[in-house]
Amino acid sequence: MDKIIIRGGKKLTGTVRMSGSKNAALPILIASLLTDDECIIDNVPALADIDTTIRFLTYIGKKIVMRGSTVTVRSHGRLKPTAPYDLVRKMRASTLVMGPLLGRLGRVSVSLPGGCAIGARPIDIHLESFVKMGAEITLTCGYVKTIAPCLSGAHIHFRYPSVGATENVLLAAVLAKGTTIIENAAREPEIVDLADVLNKMGASVTGAGSKKITVRGVKKLQGFRHSVIPDRIETATYVIAAAATRGDVTVTHTNPRHVAAVLSHLKRAGAGVQCTNDTIRVVWKKPLKPVTVTTAVFPGFPTDVQAQWMTLMSLVHGKSSIRETVFENRFLHVAELQRLGANIHIKGNTVQVTGVKNISGAPVMASDLRAGAALVIAGLIAEGRTEVLRVYHLDRGYEHLEKKLRTLGADIRRVAQ
Ligand code: EPZ
Repeated sequence: MDKIIIRGGKKLTGTVRMSGSKNAALPILIASLLTDDECIIDNVPALADIDTTIRFLTYIGKKIVMRGSTVTVRSHGRLKPTAPYDLVRKMRASTLVMGPLLGRLGRVSVSLPGGCAIGARPIDIHLESFVKMGAEITLTCGYVKTIAPCLSGAHIHFRYPSVGATENVLLAAVLAKGTTIIENAAREPEIVDLADVLNKMGASVTGAGSKKITVRGVKKLQGFRHSVIPDRIETATYVIAAAATRGDVTVTHTNPRHVAAVLSHLKRAGAGVQCTNDTIRVVWKKPLKPVTVTTAVFPGFPTDVQAQWMTLMSLVHGKSSIRETVFENRFLHVAELQRLGANIHIKGNTVQVTGVKNISGAPVMASDLRAGAALVIAGLIAEGRTEVLRVYHLDRGYEHLEKKLRTLGADIRRVAQ
């Protein structure tokens, strides 16, 4: 397993280009199961999760070629209605194949994903929705077998605006008989991007990005070409790293409107923030002020940026608190930051951060994708050398991480273990 070695104390300065969104690319790649036509997806990031999805779609019956950031998906015979454990356990988003395979084949058998470092992450909302659409579900030997000879539209109220459940129901409803309405739908930009693709395929999806989405089912869908939206969590990670290192960084090929909550918190903390239509410049002007954060569904402060914000607040004089409302166990990075000298205390789903003058480098371990990003930022601002272990978590969601940070002046390198 590789590790990343960082020598802290360097300001990040310069310009860095954002990659396409991992969390938009995954459901869009899976949407290719809805048609036998050729699908071309541009601006796809080169990430471990993308590789996993490509392997997975190949297993199900697609022929896929990735050239640079363009993925071409073609048909390759009959589709297999199964998602095996060894693929699903690597990436929970694999459960999104349920929607399209139910719509196309009327049956699918998917391994239950199991928990992960940040929480139990059940898929009950997904399954309840499919039952409302006429599916029959049985759980045997860790697999969810779902049968729906005639998937029909339904009026579905989500008890929680789940991103994955919204995507899964959209992917099922487009080929269902009749109209589906999702109330309390997730509003994330990745949902809007998926709906744009489905409409390019000939579906009829309205209201994506709002709490109420309406889908009028159609008989057949065609191929598409689509460029994936920029990665808003990668964007948030780099603008926070710029402020944390007291630097001056311009992020390009991004969408400032997708990170508005993060930018408003950075401004409140005293960082300089200037935006154009597709760039964001963050300039450190003076010592930052502590700013309290509560994570929320979009358009609130993203849970995927909570760990990175905690690192930023660790070196800001004064007290701040960070409340996590989306996942029940997303504080595994706290103990690692404490090893570096951060003064953080957990109280239920909230942490109190008391800024310290400095933190010092040490070996730390990534527990999940975004905790890993928080530890890299900590290494950038710690005195001395920091080693971040279990870098495979980072490889799931940050394309060319060391290269991008090196272009901004960081002293960072990867060492194969
Ligand atoms: C997506 O996960 C993202 N992953 C996550 O990003 C992100 O943290 C999350 O949305 C929240 O924004 C992808 O898009 C691939 P949810 P998802 O369903 O769809 C509970 C990253 O770092 N819930 O909105 O799994 C669940 O347990 C990853 O890129 C149920 O209880 O998120 C959680 O507490 C990490 N039952 C909350 O809802 C369900 O059926 C949010 O889950 C579904 C979800």
